Amino acid sequence: MPKWCAGTVVEKQIWTEGLFTIRIAVPGVTEFTPGQFLQLAVYPEGHEGDEAKLINRPYSVASPHGEELEFFIVLVEDGELTPKLWALKEGGSIQVAQRAAGSFTLKKTPDAETLWLVATGTGLAPYIAMLRTEEPWESYNNVVVIHGVRHFADLAYTDELKAYEKKYPNRFRLVQALTREEADGTLNGRIPGLFENGEIEKVTGFSCQADNSSVLLCGNPAMLDTMEEVLGMRDMKRHRSKSPGQIVLERYW
Ligand SMILES: Cc1cc2nc3c(=O)[nH]c(=O)nc-3n(C[C@H](O)[C@H](O)[C@H](O)COP(=O)(O)OP(=O)(O)OC[C@H]3O[C@@H](n4cnc5c(N)ncnc54)[C@H](O)[C@@H]3O)c2cc1C
Ligand SMILES: NC(=O)c1ccc[n+]([C@@H]2O[C@H](COP(=O)([O-])OP(=O)(O)OC[C@H]3O[C@@H](n4cnc5c(N)ncnc54)[C@H](OP(=O)(O)O)[C@@H]3O)[C@@H](O)[C@H]2O)c1
Repeated sequence: MPKWCAGTVVEKQIWTEGLFTIRIAVPGVTEFTPGQFLQLAVYPEGHEGDEAKLINRPYSVASPHGEELEFFIVLVEDGELTPKLWALKEGGSIQVAQRAAGSFTLKKTPDAETLWLVATGTGLAPYIAMLRTEEPWESYNNVVVIHGVRHFADLAYTDELKAYEKKYPNRFRLVQALTREEADGTLNGRIPGLFENGEIEKVTGFSCQADNSSVLLCGNPAMLDTMEEVLGMRDMKRHRSKSPGQIVLERYW
C-alpha cells in the first residue's frame, strides 16, 4: 500500500456531465515528472481513517509538480471509484499517494523533429502537464496534440491548447476529432483511421515517419493497439531502452 497524503479538493471544473477536472491541495507529494501518475483514493462510507479499506486507482497528473495538483477524470458509471470522485465537492477530502510512478514521460521519449501527443478522452491529462513545462518546446521543433472524443462537449482544455497555437504559431498544432457528431473546426472519425487516410498529416502540415517523429499514445487501449499497427506500417515501433523506437504508450485499462 502506498504512503498517503491527505488532500482537499479546492476546485472542481465540470466540462460536461461526468467529465471533470479536480484541483487538489496536497502538500507532501514527492517531486515527480510530467506524464507520471499518482494513486487517488477515498474511504468507503463508514470506514473513514481505515487505510486498509481505501479504494484507489491510478490517475495521470494533469499538472506539473506543486502544492496543488490537477486530475482530469471521467465518470465510469458502474465503476467503483469514479462515482465517489464525481460526488466530491470543493472542500471534500481525498487521499493522494506520496510517490508518483510510471515512465510515460518526455525523458523516456526519444528526441525528434515532431512530437505527436495522441489521446482519447481523459488520456489528454499527461499532455496538459507536459505542455505546461518548457520541456516539449526545448526538445522538439514541432508539437502536435491529437484529441479524439465522442462528442464536441467532451473536448476539454480547448482554450488552454489553443493558447499554444497562438504562442507557437509555426510549431504547435491542435487536432480535435469527434466520432459521434460533426462540428466546425474538428475532424470526424477515429484517430487511427485519420492517420491511415493521411488526413491528420494534411491538416497539420507535418509528416509522421520513423526518421522524424516520436509518438506518445494515451487512453483507450483499443486505440493504442490500432495506432501501433498503423504506425508499424511506417516502420515505427515501441521505444525500449535496449531497442530504440518511436512509440511510447500509456494504457488506461
Ligand atoms: C496509468 C494510468 C493512468 C490513468 N489515468 C487516468 C486519468 O487521468 N483519468 C481517468 O479518468 N482515468 C485514468 N485511468 C483509469 C483509472 O485508473 C480507473 O481505471 C478509472 O477511473 C475507472 O475507475 P473505477 O473504479 O470507477 O472503475 P472500475 O470499477 O475499476 O472499472 C474499470 C473499467 O472502466 C473502464 N475505464 C477505466 N478508465 C476509463 C477511462 N479513463 N475512460 C473510459 N473508460 C474507462 C474500463 O472499461 C475499465 O475496465 C488511468 C489508468 C492508468 C492505468
Ligand atoms: N462526456 C464523457 O466523456 C462521459 C461522461 C460521462 C460518462 N462517460 C463514460 O465514460 C466512459 C468512457 O467514455 P469516453 O468517451 O471518455 O472514452 P472512450 O469510450 O474511450 O471514447 C473516447 C474516444 O475513443 C474512441 N475509440 C474507442 N475505441 C477506439 C478504437 N478502437 N480506436 C480508436 N478510437 C477509439 C471513441 O470512438 P467511438 O465513439 O467510435 O467509440 C471516442 O472517440 C464510458 O463508460 C462513458 O459512458 C463519458
